[in-house]
Amino acid sequence: MARRSGPLSGEVTVPGAKNAVLKLMAATLLADGRYELSNVPAIDDVATMGDLLAALGVTSHIDPQRRDVLVLENHGSIVPEAPYDLVERIRASIVVLGPLLARCGVARVSMPGGDDFGKRPIDMHLKGLEALGATFELRRGYIEARAEALHGADITLDFPSVGATENIVMAAVLAKGATVIDNAAREPEVADLCHFLNAMGACIEGIGSPTLYVHGVPQRDLQAAEHRVVVDRVQAATYMAAVAACQGEVVVRGAQAEHMEMFIRRLREMGVQFTAQTDGVLVYADDRRLRSLDVQTLPYPGFATDYKPLIVTLLTVADGVGIVTENLYPGRFRYVEELQRLGADIRTDGHHAVVRGVASLDGAPVRAPDIRAGAALVVAGLMANGETVISDVHHVDRGYDDLVGRLSSLGADIERVR
Ligand code: EPU
Repeated sequence: MARRSGPLSGEVTVPGAKNAVLKLMAATLLADGRYELSNVPAIDDVATMGDLLAALGVTSHIDPQRRDVLVLENHGSIVPEAPYDLVERIRASIVVLGPLLARCGVARVSMPGGDDFGKRPIDMHLKGLEALGATFELRRGYIEARAEALHGADITLDFPSVGATENIVMAAVLAKGATVIDNAAREPEVADLCHFLNAMGACIEGIGSPTLYVHGVPQRDLQAAEHRVVVDRVQAATYMAAVAACQGEVVVRGAQAEHMEMFIRRLREMGVQFTAQTDGVLVYADDRRLRSLDVQTLPYPGFATDYKPLIVTLLTVADGVGIVTENLYPGRFRYVEELQRLGADIRTDGHHAVVRGVASLDGAPVRAPDIRAGAALVVAGLMANGETVISDVHHVDRGYDDLVGRLSSLGADIERVR
């Protein structure tokens, strides 16, 4: 439950990124040994991925002395079968396919389903792995994959897909010869995975660029490693948006401005001030009304689709009209109806949303349709008059580490009710 809040003040520390840690966990399938991941967020998806890895043969536990450290142990007895009941709980689990194939030469992985915001195909994952020598059969809801020996290949992705890039890289690490992935995804979380793989003994060049070069290494050259998970730019953006919504001055500790350039640029244009600090970003918003603007989502370094519900929320009270265009997931506008319940003036047409700023929102009961939309509804609740009760917050728990506690510590009027 959130009530109109602000100005916010103080400091908030942002933990590691969900979309990095889940892939780092999958990478531990590649080599035996004891891994330590630090800066791990306390989120439900990490626990779910832990369950899936346990079924595949890698155990994990949180270090009781250091709550942000996840210890994973791969004892070398991998069972390359990812069952439906675990895969359907977490779509990111498709990234076990590449490492399982590379490690075991076979894999049976349940087909991931759609999402609340639409269809999410995996054709690019399969095409890329096929180029490396894998064959696939789709049988009774499962992908049955086989690869006698993976070999390097030149692969050009039709679109810089995050998951496809990660799956192909993880398979190519153990393939014989060199792989070039063109039009690769450049997200900081993809780069984080590549750095981790290199720390394990892989040989990946071009990290952070659209072309990745992976020189395959023999299995014996890979070993377990320690790694600090990259800070979550979407959680950081959520606290920045909360300041923009409620006014105030907050240090978002850990936020890496260079990973969030487009988000920060757009919020600056709306009237929010940012100052990069040694270990974070200072965000300041005064009592002047935010200004509207047009935004379109694009792969990194463009404006991320995961930021979009936040900016739509801010536009609902900004001065003027803003047009938001979704280029990644056409169906990702489900939360618009929830914002309308709070009094927002938004029209959607295909993959565009036209947001006409109103003077203020009014609290109402709303439902979180997915992680990012849920967090945006929390921000909306903090700027709406009166009380906003948000249900289905289990979606938010999948990707946010104590959102309520962190916002409360900044002075937001928010509580978790059962
Ligand atoms: N696509 C295909 N075929 C493929 C793969 C992707 O058509 O084989 C399409 C998708 O349908 C989508 C677009 O390409 O339209 C982008 O998909 P991408 O593969 O890049 O996304 P993803 O790997 O499935 C990750 C994040 C998402 C984030 C996107 C885009 C994880 C676990 N998920 O998904 O995060 O929105 O990249 O940046 O890393 C979230 O955290 O809430 C979330 C949805």
